[in-house]
Amino acid sequence: MPYGSRLTAEMTRRLGRECLYTPSARLALYLALRRWCRPGARVLMSPVNDDVILFVVLAAGLRPVQAPVSVWDGNIDPAAVPESTWRTVDAVLTTNLYGIPDRVVELRARCDQLGIPLFEDAAHAIGTHVEGQPIGTFGKAAAFSLSKHVAGMAGGFLAVEDARTRREVERLRDELLVPGRLRGDLATTLRPLARSAVRGLRLVRPVWRTMQRLGLLERDTFRMELHPLRLADRARRAPSLSAYEPWVRVDLHGFRERHGPLVRAQLQLRMERLDGDLARRTVGVSLLAGTAWAGRALRDRTAEDGPLPLFRVPLLVRDRDALLDRLVDHGLVCGYVYDPPLDDYAGAEFVEPSPDPTAARWFASHTLPADPLLARTIINALTKDGVKPASPEAPAHDSGPDAGSGSGAQPSVPFPGRDATSKSTTG
Ligand SMILES: Cc1ncc(COP(=O)(O)O)c(C=O)c1O
Repeated sequence: MPYGSRLTAEMTRRLGRECLYTPSARLALYLALRRWCRPGARVLMSPVNDDVILFVVLAAGLRPVQAPVSVWDGNIDPAAVPESTWRTVDAVLTTNLYGIPDRVVELRARCDQLGIPLFEDAAHAIGTHVEGQPIGTFGKAAAFSLSKHVAGMAGGFLAVEDARTRREVERLRDELLVPGRLRGDLATTLRPLARSAVRGLRLVRPVWRTMQRLGLLERDTFRMELHPLRLADRARRAPSLSAYEPWVRVDLHGFRERHGPLVRAQLQLRMERLDGDLARRTVGVSLLAGTAWAGRALRDRTAEDGPLPLFRVPLLVRDRDALLDRLVDHGLVCGYVYDPPLDDYAGAEFVEPSPDPTAARWFASHTLPADPLLARTIINALTKDGVKPASPEAPAHDSGPDAGSGSGAQPSVPFPGRDATSKSTTG
């Protein structure tokens, strides 16, 4: 029986596509990029993304081409991608940031027209649909993460179009997996339980502050350290997962470990609870979408299609960075902040910069990724704190205390209100 087949059977049933199990979504994405892209190929992607994904693309020996994004949801804005860029990209990688779907119908049509593959990063979007079709079934391949919705802190899937491709990619996966160890499996099994215990005992604040003080966090800022000299040196070995491992493994050191039965049994239990989790997320999204901090993408989608079971809800707030620190005192640690955008972070040596970075900068620097499972606590904390909503449509002089802060300075002209949420673009 192929490795992880019980977990895979459940995912295949949910999605209606052939799936294979991987220890992480990042490994699933790497497999897809290696299977369909020749070294040196150019991959269009959003700069508002986890830096780990940038390193996955580099590890696969590819050139990350940063796309203009919608200022409302941070996903690729296909209409704003210059024709000259469309003509020179070899593949497109979506983000489905926080679970809000990319404009997959449009992207799929474009990719078909150009004869290039569409890859879906569905790590944040396990329960998201577009026109009744699950995210993860639009492209050549889609990566899912069990570290997100069901908080497994391990596990993922790659969904592909047919059984022959699945078998082929399974062979590639088996070559890349490294042997698991009982110690690693025990740690992977216990880590999510320890995290729940910290939350349940209301110890988030002291535990987080202590880890900060002791230097136990892998990132001091929202982005990991780039180490440009070392990174440039590794390019000579690309494609190679091992060469880029110090970057790709951040936050999940077991990302290519062959999990034993203990980890897979734990993930199986978590998968069984997925529908309940999605239902609770939907309730939280509904609450958060009704607040003043909800952006237009969220409000419009919720009004049109009902609330989505998002992984995180992108609230738009002023003075975001200082707020994140204050929220720790309310027992809230908000991760998944993707600021600055990848082109500002890595520079032109490692990525092709976006031709229009302003929307990405604005979105990245004003977004508070709120866990919908903690919606009431977050609403109470923001209300108590008097947090002001931010809008990309507000003129720069109205933008309050955060104007000009960090990499995310307000644009000098307000955004023209490109409609991020029309049916044709978000499905
Ligand atoms: C957008 C996105 N894609 C993929 C991943 C990788 O998922 P995993 O941790 O399962 O490798 C992450 C991780 O946070 C992510 O944020």
